[in-house]
Amino acid sequence: MEINLFAPESFRAGHPHDQYHWLRENAPVFWQQTADGEGYWALTRYRDVFAVDRDFSTFSSEPTVMIADPDPAGDMLFGGRKMMLMMDPPQHTLLRRLVRTTFTREAALTRAPRLDQLARQILGKVAPSGACDFVEDIAGEMPSYVIAELMGLPPEDGRQLYRLTEILHSASPPSEIVAALSAMFEYGREVIKQKRAHPGEDIASALLSAELDGRKLDDAEFLLFFLLLIDAGGDTTRNLLGAGLIALLENPDQIEWLKADLEGRLGSAREELLRYCAPVVYMRRRATKDTRIGDTEIRAGQKVVMYFGAANRDPSEFEAPDRLDLSRTPNGHIAFGTGPHGCLGQHLARLEIDAVLRHLFATLDDIEITAPPQWLSSNFIAGPKTLPIRFRAR
Ligand code: HEM
Repeated sequence: MEINLFAPESFRAGHPHDQYHWLRENAPVFWQQTADGEGYWALTRYRDVFAVDRDFSTFSSEPTVMIADPDPAGDMLFGGRKMMLMMDPPQHTLLRRLVRTTFTREAALTRAPRLDQLARQILGKVAPSGACDFVEDIAGEMPSYVIAELMGLPPEDGRQLYRLTEILHSASPPSEIVAALSAMFEYGREVIKQKRAHPGEDIASALLSAELDGRKLDDAEFLLFFLLLIDAGGDTTRNLLGAGLIALLENPDQIEWLKADLEGRLGSAREELLRYCAPVVYMRRRATKDTRIGDTEIRAGQKVVMYFGAANRDPSEFEAPDRLDLSRTPNGHIAFGTGPHGCLGQHLARLEIDAVLRHLFATLDDIEITAPPQWLSSNFIAGPKTLPIRFRAR
């Protein structure tokens, strides 16, 4: 079996489950070479991914959670500052605390009626046409509107910002990536001006007035937070919905099971789709000291990469892991990560997913894929780029 978890081509048809399977069985802590010669340890077992994600003192998120080390030019853009995703406690904890209350389960639940209304609008708009691109017209609409509302921005701007994150996450040419980053940066600067002048009941205004160690966030710190929130909540949710619909259509019996009691079964169905599709492929850490994972010695300074999609199909944790079983309970999947960085937006994401699935199955019947979906060729984010479907409006 040829193993290459670094090559974006390996993800051309979604997660490379055949490679994950071989690795879990034969080399669960595998040295993956990279073109720059540096290489990293690839983890594919549930228990290793879980343990490393929680042990932030041995496995640091600094200087970045991407496999490639940061580009010094990108760093300069923000005066050497970083996103909290790429920090360790205690600095990470201080920043996360600034937005924690917006993202609790209770706070997310207060938004549920609004999310439901958005999903109804999105589905209502496409239903009469009988066909659409599920990714563009349904799955991508939801998270971009939600983020825009959270940030107190016009919905159309949410769409624009989300398009920019797509460029950042796909294997775009470096010049396009730089252009997309500067466009976001420009937009963020406008937000700073407007929200300082006219603060509202939104996270952008809250972040600008928050105090960190007795001082306000500076512009670079705000911009990085802004980018993180736009970036983390957009195509993750979209890709779960896109990949999730493909998985459902491949298992029509599961759709029937779900529709037989949509409200009662949505919860376990959504968790199973998260397990099965795992939209975030990996997060990377760096060993702070010599250590071991299983029988493998890890040297201080080496990179360690957690493959969430592989952990989610580990047979020692999940019975018949390659089977989509919407009734699976309990379901301890790790699609949102765990430990100090465990997904901040997970409660909101769950409600977004539920709202779209609820209105999808309440509004459309006989959904069919009309052309082979194209997957993102990315080793970081897994999901279909396009998913043309046709259907009958109920
Ligand atoms: C299906 C949708 C989503 C998935 C699969 C997902 C997955 C993840 C994963 C795997 C991480 C890293 C966890 C770790 O390192 O242990 C993460 C972090 C994060 N997510 Fe999500 N996410 C989703 C939706 C969202 C949404 C809707 C938001 C916000 C509106 C969001 C905001 C964040 C933030 C801010 C972080 C960084 C947390 C930190 O560093 O403390 N995510 N997410």
